[in-house]
Amino acid sequence: MALVRQRTAQGSNATEIEKKIKRGNALRQGSAWRWSRGSVALLLVALSLCGAAMWLYVTSLDSEVTETLVRGSELVSPQPRVYSVECSEDYESYKRYPGCTPQKCGRAVTDSVVTREEAQALRRDVRERIQAVIAETFDLDPAMVYLTKPTFFSRINSTAAKTQHDEYWHPHIDKVTYGSFDYTSLLYLSDYGSDFTGGRFIFMDQNGNRTVEPRAGRVSFFTSGSENLHRVERVTWGTRYAITVSFTCDPAHAISDPTLP
Ligand SMILES: *[C@@H]1O[C@H](CO)[C@@H](O)[C@H](O)[C@H]1NC(C)=O
Ligand SMILES: *[C@@H]1O[C@H](CO)[C@@H](O)[C@H](O)[C@H]1NC(C)=O
Repeated sequence: MALVRQRTAQGSNATEIEKKIKRGNALRQGSAWRWSRGSVALLLVALSLCGAAMWLYVTSLDSEVTETLVRGSELVSPQPRVYSVECSEDYESYKRYPGCTPQKCGRAVTDSVVTREEAQALRRDVRERIQAVIAETFDLDPAMVYLTKPTFFSRINSTAAKTQHDEYWHPHIDKVTYGSFDYTSLLYLSDYGSDFTGGRFIFMDQNGNRTVEPRAGRVSFFTSGSENLHRVERVTWGTRYAITVSFTCDPAHAISDPTLP
């Protein structure tokens, strides 16, 4: 009986040892599995960090954009969306022309002045319509507002962004850059996001940067003084087409209708 019991004890001891060995293996396997899961997690973290770093690098140039005034996907119609800003003192150092020199300043966007179809096949009366909406928005006499130069067609792609002497992404004031400007308008001919990336228009205010996303047929217009310091974000992909149409209050700077390409 005692022998049997001992054998049983030994047997149970053997079983105990086998169990311990198995448990040990299981533990080793478990930790090995845990380690590989850990390294996958580490790898994922590293990859996401790389991705985040790349994203930050790509967006760093324009990460200061804080507010979008008008999204590319929106349709601003029928009334222009007007954002009033206080007029700067710039105009005081220029001759004042009643019915034209800004009394109220601001910036505005509309998608109803030019249709998308018209944006693709430009018509000459676009200038008149833009002039009319500016006069209406800023309470001017349309006959006292004159088209001025330069009125230019711009085609910007990512290559142009690197080589162009006229570095459009630098902040500027139109009235300072082109003395004759009193009202600046931009007619966009392509869509932000689908025709090109980057290339948003940015008003740089003291308390934040505000953007307008271009959209074929969209007209954005604003008073040209330092109340509307702005720049254009670098185009990172695709081609951004726009036409700048500018107006002056000074008849001496008036030009006749341009022949658009
Ligand atoms: C940008 O436009 C220029 C001039 O038309 C052209 O030579 C260049 O290849 C274009 N770049 C890209 C990235 O499409
Ligand atoms: C607006 O953007 C510029 C750079 O383009 C940046 O220096 C400035 O701090 C930004 N303004 C605000 C108030 O975030």
